[in-house]
Amino acid sequence: MERTFLMLKPEIVERGLQGEIIDLLIKNRFAIRKMRQFRFDESSARRFYAVHDGKDFFEPLIAYMTSGSVIGLELEKEDAVLHLRELVGATDPAEARPGTVRYMYGTDLRHNAVHASDSPESAQKELAIVFPKS
Ligand code: CDP
Ligand code: MG
Repeated sequence: MERTFLMLKPEIVERGLQGEIIDLLIKNRFAIRKMRQFRFDESSARRFYAVHDGKDFFEPLIAYMTSGSVIGLELEKEDAVLHLRELVGATDPAEARPGTVRYMYGTDLRHNAVHASDSPESAQKELAIVFPKS
């Protein structure tokens, strides 16, 4: 079984949509191994998104991701990384397919509801940031 990482972004927690998305994960047969609600401090958010440092959207992304509470989930399933990216949909909600999380819950390119790891290596790094001593 493969592990991956999903994060519900601030607008989801603010709008009270976390339950619907968690329900969707369970219905799509992801096992939830860990779950934690927290607020990113500036330096952890920069570390989490370090791969995007220097890009034009980096600073507004950090401002957004530190603006409120998020929920991190460690998920397990066969081919979890690929299956979760499929369920999440395209980065831009306007391009996401119907039925995907970003189609249903995303607002715009930045406020796109969730983060999902793009590889098993990224999942390992991201899980270590969000769930440090476990
Ligand atoms: O999240 P995903 O892996 O699909 O996309 P990314 O290319 O790794 O970008 C990370 C995050 O930066 C996205 O989920 C958006 O929230 C944000 N972003 C943005 O605000 N403007 C862009 N032009 C691209 C991404
Ligand atoms: Mg990414």
